[in-house]
Amino acid sequence: MTETAFIPDSYTATVQKGTVTYKSPSNIALVKYWGKKAHQIPENPSISFTLDACATTTKLTYEKRAEKASDFTFDLFFEGKPKEDFKPKIITFFERVEKYLPFLKEYDFTIETQNSFPHSSGIASSASGMSALSLCLMSLEKELNPSMTEEQFKQKASFLARLGSGSACRSIEGDLIVWGAHEQTQGSSDLFGIKYPYEVHENFKRYHDTILLVDKGEKQVSSTVGHGLMHGHPFAQQRFAQAHENLTTLQEIFKTGDLKAFIKIVESEALTLHAMMMTSMPYFILMKPNTLSIINKIWAFRERTGSHVCFTLDAGANVHVLYPENEATEVYEFIKDELVGYCQNGHYICDRIGFGAKKL
Ligand code: PMV
Repeated sequence: MTETAFIPDSYTATVQKGTVTYKSPSNIALVKYWGKKAHQIPENPSISFTLDACATTTKLTYEKRAEKASDFTFDLFFEGKPKEDFKPKIITFFERVEKYLPFLKEYDFTIETQNSFPHSSGIASSASGMSALSLCLMSLEKELNPSMTEEQFKQKASFLARLGSGSACRSIEGDLIVWGAHEQTQGSSDLFGIKYPYEVHENFKRYHDTILLVDKGEKQVSSTVGHGLMHGHPFAQQRFAQAHENLTTLQEIFKTGDLKAFIKIVESEALTLHAMMMTSMPYFILMKPNTLSIINKIWAFRERTGSHVCFTLDAGANVHVLYPENEATEVYEFIKDELVGYCQNGHYICDRIGFGAKKL
C-alpha cells in the first residue's frame, strides 16, 4: 500500500455544516520510535500501550464556504480561549494532509480543544491532539463519502495523525499498537498504526502506567530536533536493527506472559532512547537528577520484593511507572511512599492501558 491509496476519489455527498467531537488518548511506546525519514516515515518500527486518562478532546465545527478559500480558514480555542500560537502547527498539519483531504479549503472550521492533563505538565499533547483532530476531519470525510468502511476510516485517521506527529498514529485504537513496517508483524506499515495482531497474555491486560511528573518545564530539545539528530548518528543503524529485534522478542513475551523478559526490553528501550540523545552531535540530556533517583528506587524495590514494576521514559524527564494489574495495590503504595517525593510539586497521573479514541 502506498500514500496514493489515501487520496480520495470525488465525493458522493455534499455537507453544508456540522459539528463532531472526539476524545483521543495519549500512548506510551515500549519499543521507541526515534529517527524518521521524509514525510514522517519512521526509521524503525515501534509498539505502544494506548493510554486512557491522558487524553485530548477536540470539537470541530465546520461550515461550507460560498467558494473555496486561498488559505485555510479556522479559529482555534484551547481550553475555551483563542490560541493563536498553536495555529502554525495546525497550518503545517493542514498543508501536509490537504492532498488527502481536498475539501479543507472549502470549509470554515472552528477547532475547540482541551486536555485532561494539566497544560505544561511536561506530557506531550501532540499524540492525543493530532489523533483527535484527524478523527474529527475523517468524520467530515465520511459524511462526504458515506460508503467508507470502519476499517478505512480508522486506517486513514491513523495515516493523517502520523502526518501531524508520528507517534499520534498510535493513538486511534488500543490497547497495543504497532507502527512501522516489521517483517514479523503481519499488516504492519510505515504509513499507519495497526492493532497488535497476535496473542497477548492475561498479564498484559489492564496494565497500569503511573506518570511521575519530574519536570513540567518546556523541553530543551524538541522531538523534531531529536529525530533529526539520528541522521548521521554513529549508532543509528545498530539502533534501528535493535528495534526490529526487540519487537520480535516482545511477540514471544506477549504470548507467554514473561514479565521479567518484558521488563528487560522495556527498560533497555527507554535507556537506549536517552543514550541516542546523549551520543548525538550536538548531544543533550533530557533526564533530571530525580529521573535517575526514581529509576534507582524502582530497581531497589524490585530487588527487595520481587515485584514486576518497571519504568519507561519518553523524550523528557518524566517517568512512566508500568506495572501489572495484580500488583497494583503494592506498587501504588510504593509510589506514594517512595517516588512521589521526586515529582515536581508532588504531581503524578494515574493512568492505565486504554482502548482508543471515542466519538462523544
Ligand atoms: O511523535 P513524536 O515526533 O513526538 O516522537 C515521539 C518519540 C518518542 O515519544 C520519544 C518515542 C515514541 O515512540 O513515542
